[in-house]
Amino acid sequence: MQDRVRSVGILGIGSCVPDNIRTNKDLEKMVDTSDEWIIARTGIKERRIADEKTATSDLATVAAKRALEDAGVAAEEIDLIIVATVTPDMFFPSTACIVQSNIGAKNAAAFDLGAGCSGYLYGLTVAKQFIATGMHDKILVIGAEKLSTIIDWEDRNTSVLFGDGAGATVVGPTEDGMGILATSIGADGDGGKHLYMPAGGSRVPSSISSIEQKLHYLKMDGSEVFKFAVRIMSKASLKVLKDSGYGVEDIDYLVPHQANIRIINSAVKKLKLNKDKIHVNLDKYANTSAASVPIALDEAVKQGKIKKNDVVVMVGFGAGLTWGSCVIKWNK
Ligand code: COA
Repeated sequence: MQDRVRSVGILGIGSCVPDNIRTNKDLEKMVDTSDEWIIARTGIKERRIADEKTATSDLATVAAKRALEDAGVAAEEIDLIIVATVTPDMFFPSTACIVQSNIGAKNAAAFDLGAGCSGYLYGLTVAKQFIATGMHDKILVIGAEKLSTIIDWEDRNTSVLFGDGAGATVVGPTEDGMGILATSIGADGDGGKHLYMPAGGSRVPSSISSIEQKLHYLKMDGSEVFKFAVRIMSKASLKVLKDSGYGVEDIDYLVPHQANIRIINSAVKKLKLNKDKIHVNLDKYANTSAASVPIALDEAVKQGKIKKNDVVVMVGFGAGLTWGSCVIKWNK
């Protein structure tokens, strides 16, 4: 359902990736893989890996400060912080509360949101409702991950796919008819078994045995996730376009979740979109889960690919299984 009580837009955006680059060649020394295989099957060339001292909240904090600066909004003006992540600093307090303290957003409520790689789009959807109704005025929506801590670096099926990073947006009221025109989120819990981390929660608490069995690492059935992703990317884009009153022909720019170039290409083909309307940066950062869409959006905006009045579609999928999409008439 789309409400139009108050128009809501992205007022500022920022991102942060660690300096340390891990290339495919580096991975060749760690697992039985090759630069050629990774590029051909995924499009990924390198990813960023945070050092031991850096946690998810540290990346989120830098991204949040950059977004606030971009928006010209003071931390005290933020009244809600949502951090989408599957790699929180710890179970509690929430990473959002840690970010609140780091940036001095004294007047903000704060919570984490778990929707896998769709987390940022889920967060944007929540923020839009709160602002549209007047319940909140300025919300920081952040996607942040230190996935390198839940990757089994001896597993070639998963280790080549992921990286660390954070992206943040300040969301607030905007001029009528501009900003987030429609959002759509969905889930298929039956598919949860295809992408999950078995231990560390209440089902399999941490123990010597859970660690010995490597149950604290991400497990994935790559081909099942691939099939789901190919199906959902175009479907979720078309659904939200219909809700917004626009069609594929109206899209000026599409920012997809950066998981695999073959998934993006298949969506582009199904939507019959021109390839230069799509933002791709997975070659540099790999899949940063909830951070992937806001990092890509930040890059696209900074590169001047998105301008005021452009119709921008964002779409993603992830663990859950979940998906999310939105249409924005760019308001900045
Ligand atoms: N290097 C070399 N070979 C590898 C490899 C690697 N890093 N990873 C897997 N392989 C091997 C497999 O073992 C398999 O070998 P086999 O045929 O001898 O068993 C072969 O390559 C082909 O594997 P397959 O699974 O068919 O490859 P694929 O083309 O489906 O690509 C993925 C695998 C993981 C890249 C792909 O399925 C994918 O991207 N899935 C979606 C993952 C995703 O997006 N996850 C995040 C969701 S938010």
